[in-house]
This record gives sequence, structure tokens and C-alpha cells, in this order.
Amino acid sequence: MHAPPSKTQSRGAFGSRLGFILAAAGSAIGLGNIWRFPYTAGENGGGAFVLLYLVFVIGLGLPVLLAELSLGRASKSNPVGAFKRFFPKTLWPYVGGLGVLTGFGILAFYVVVAGWSLSYLGRAFTGTFDGAITAEESGVLFTSIISNPTETVALAGVFLVLTAVVVRAGVGGGIELASKILMPVFFVLLLVLAGRSLTLPGADEGVAFLFGTDFSKLTGQGVMSALGQALFSLSLGMGAMITYGSYLPDKENLPIAGAAVAFFDTAIALLGGLIIFPALFSQGVAPDEGPGLVFVVLPTIFHSLPMGNLFAIAFYGLLSIAALTSTISLMEVVVAYFVDERGWNRNKSVLVIVPATLMLAVPSSLSQGGMDFFTDFIGGKGFLDTQDILFGNISLSVGALLISIFVGWKWGAKEALQEMDNFSLGGVWSILIRFAAPIAVGAVLVTFVVGLFGE
Ligand code: TRP
Repeated sequence: MHAPPSKTQSRGAFGSRLGFILAAAGSAIGLGNIWRFPYTAGENGGGAFVLLYLVFVIGLGLPVLLAELSLGRASKSNPVGAFKRFFPKTLWPYVGGLGVLTGFGILAFYVVVAGWSLSYLGRAFTGTFDGAITAEESGVLFTSIISNPTETVALAGVFLVLTAVVVRAGVGGGIELASKILMPVFFVLLLVLAGRSLTLPGADEGVAFLFGTDFSKLTGQGVMSALGQALFSLSLGMGAMITYGSYLPDKENLPIAGAAVAFFDTAIALLGGLIIFPALFSQGVAPDEGPGLVFVVLPTIFHSLPMGNLFAIAFYGLLSIAALTSTISLMEVVVAYFVDERGWNRNKSVLVIVPATLMLAVPSSLSQGGMDFFTDFIGGKGFLDTQDILFGNISLSVGALLISIFVGWKWGAKEALQEMDNFSLGGVWSILIRFAAPIAVGAVLVTFVVGLFGE
């Protein structure tokens, strides 16, 4: 189609469509599906939230995903460079800049939760989940793990270093290879877990919670969370998919690749829900428990599986890996920015990013009971929750709003469609990206901000 800019040669690219799909799905699938989706759905009353989430994924997430991928592939650039390439002397590159900053902000709390997962992995190795453990005991264990500052900070650091090692190895060798092997294994394991959970006594109550629609439980906050979760889960709104799109070979069909990513991501989130909620109701745990939900509920079912402890090892191992393919994409955005825009090499980039992220991760670590100041940070919320809302909801929504305006109106839906390989739904996509996405995201943001000040 059109000649790529000359510097692409050294930037690296994914080897195949399957490699891209797995890597992009690897970015999308992570703690967002298994940890964040169930607990946010639980906090917001279940089914109505889930339905709204699905509407946002299809009507908004998928169009924005295609917009980001097109912009990335057309510009062959990091988020800042992508805007700069088409409109250098405007304010648009700052949208990319906000994205890079947001990636850094998300990475800083994400590695803390990933560290919890590593901690559970370690405990699985020492046989903690060998025998039956009640929900109450499991809750006590969780609290003791996350309130231990030394362990959580150290494990967040370990996770950051692991991420940096893969990112340093580059796009094809590191990211693609890791995703290709591990994501399918994870999927199979989740299916087994869902099977176990769904056959527990009282499981149907969990299914009813997840899919029954009681809109009376949905608040303005809940709508904001559903939007934020749709964007977060698909890795949208900060340019991760612009960056991954820049590595997608020109000959690959972009809409198909994007749709596959959205499909797998959503399937895994729902699978996460089908694991957590049946188990939760059968154990009598409250659904609105918050960020600890998954960590508290899951250990209660491992022992009832054959080779339960082995299963726990595999599960936390793979959850950590799923988290790793996500942190890789977050760090990759920041690295791509330094490499493309500042002329740094990958090595120098990660050497700067790792310590900086760790500094911001420490207060998040300490916010889980380790230190009162961070535990009750703003309006009763801890530092980790505050960061999650600020970067993981608000900033992603602002980013998605600006990206859809940019692609739909400034760069132009027509230009974007050039990248979409004769997309048969191009007309629908244009309407969604030019009208539906900006209006819906704008409305949710306004309602949310008004609500903040209204109370
Ligand atoms: N989508 C990932 C998850 O669900 C997290 C993630 C990776 C992300 N890259 C992102 C979120 C970019 C927002 C933006 O776990």
C-alpha cells in the first residue's frame, strides 16, 4: 500500500498475524480480566454492570482498538510520534504524551498486584493450598501478605525487572515468543477452573449474579467503572495498541486481528467471572469485597481439584505470566517513546524506567495496610486505588476520547480506513468512531466529574 518510513527497519516487527494476535491479546489479557473485572463487577452489583461492560467493549472498545491499530500501523511509531508524524506542529502529540505518562502510572500499581500473584505462587510451591482453606482463613492470609511492606515491595521490584528483561530483548524475540507459548496454556487452565467452580454447590447463584440484570444497582460511578474497565481490559486509551499496531506487518488484515484480540480478551474476562462468582457464592464471600476478591476466593477451591496444589502452582504461575505480557506492553510504550523520540537505546530506556516506576510503586505497596498515610490517601481510598482510578479509569477515558476525535475527524476516518484492508463494516466503524465514541465517553466523563463535585 504505502511505503513505510525508513526507520522501521530497526524498530522490529511481529513475525506473523498469529504472533501479533497473541502478543496483543497478551497485552489485553492480564490482571484486568482475572483480578480487576471480577472485583469491579462485584462492587457494582454484577449483571447490569457486566452487560454495560459488554456494550462498551463492542460499541466503543472495538472501534477505538481499530483506530489505535490503524494509527500505529500507518505511522509506524510510538504514541507521541504517531500524532507528530501527521500533525507535527499541533498539540496532538501531547495526547501521545499523556498516554506514555499513563502507561507509566498504570505500570506502577500493576506490578504491585502482580507481586501479590508472585507471592501466592511462592506459597503454592510450599504447599499452602494443599488442604482445605476456608474463606475466612484465606482472607487472613491475603491481609497478612499485602500488608507486609518488605515482601510486596521486593516482589513488585522483581516483577519490574522481569518485565524489563523481556522488553529489552525486543519485539519479535521477547514479546512475541513469550506470548505464543504461554497464552494457550493459560486458557486451558482457566477452562478447568471454571468447570470446577461451576459444579460447586450453589454455583447457579454466582451465574445469576454475573448475568442477571438488575439496573437498580448501577450508579454513575458504576457506569464510569464499566467504561474504564472496557478500555483498561483492551489496553486502550494510552497508545499501547498504537505501539503494537506499529509492529503489525502491512500485509496482515487489521480488522480481523483486532476483532480476534477483543474476542479473546472478553472471553477470558467472562471466564474469570465464571470462576470467581460461583465459588464466591458457594463459600459465602461478599461480592463487593474489593481488590482482594480473587485472591481470597480462589484458594478456597484449589483443594477440591485433583492435585489441587499442583493446580495452584500452575494457576498462579500463569496468572503471573499473563500479567507479565501486560506489563511488557505498558513498559514497551514508554520504551518506544524513548527509542523513537529521544534516540535512546532499549537498554538505557529500561535502566531509567525501572527505578522510576519502582519509586511510584512503593506508596502503592504500602497502601495495603503497611503504612496508614498511604492506606487512607484520598477520600478513604488508598494510594493504589487512587492511582487505579486516576490512570486506569479517568486518564484512559480522556485518552480514548481524544484518540477517537483525532482519528475520526483530524487525521480522518478515511485515512484510517486505508489501513483497514477493505473493511466491510467500515461505514459503521466511521459512525462509531466519529460520533458514538466521543459522545458516549464525553458524557460518561462529564457525569462522573459532576458527580465528584456533587457529593
Ligand atoms: N489490559 C491489561 C489487563 O487487562 C492491562 C494493560 C496492559 C493496559 N497494557 C495496557 C491497560 C494499556 C491500559 C492501557 O490486564
